[in-house]
Amino acid sequence: MSLFSAKSDTSVDVLSRILADSYVLLMKTQNVHWNVEGAGFRAIHLMSEEHYNDLFNAVDVVAERIRMLGGKSPATFDEFLKLASFDDRIGAADQNGMLKDLLKAHELVRKDLIDGIKKLSESEDFGTTDVLGSRLAFHEKVIWMLKATLEEK
Ligand SMILES: [Fe+2]
Repeated sequence: MSLFSAKSDTSVDVLSRILADSYVLLMKTQNVHWNVEGAGFRAIHLMSEEHYNDLFNAVDVVAERIRMLGGKSPATFDEFLKLASFDDRIGAADQNGMLKDLLKAHELVRKDLIDGIKKLSESEDFGTTDVLGSRLAFHEKVIWMLKATLEEK
């Protein structure tokens, strides 16, 4: 079952990577939510919750879009870690290091989204482009928030 007569492989590939990026980033964000310590604890704890809730909703939208296009959605940690542009580890224990790690991951998802939108620019899959565009706006907002929260750049 597919919206289009032929399976849209490019769209499915682009969405699969974004799904994987988003799932791994969801885990990273919860890691910070749970383990952050220090003066900024409350602000970062609350901000990270907003962000992982958005990511949680987004993975469902992206996975279902893959299904609409006739693809099979990646759905295991193993697949997500292979497809994502970064891994699930946070290399820092301090608050600023954790924020920088999240910032780097959001910037990588942003890059994957921009690359994906460019790849689909010749297709007529405007529904997918719309999903990708709204994900891009989210990550750009978070990049701004994380930069504004970082104590030293
Ligand atoms: Fe919580």
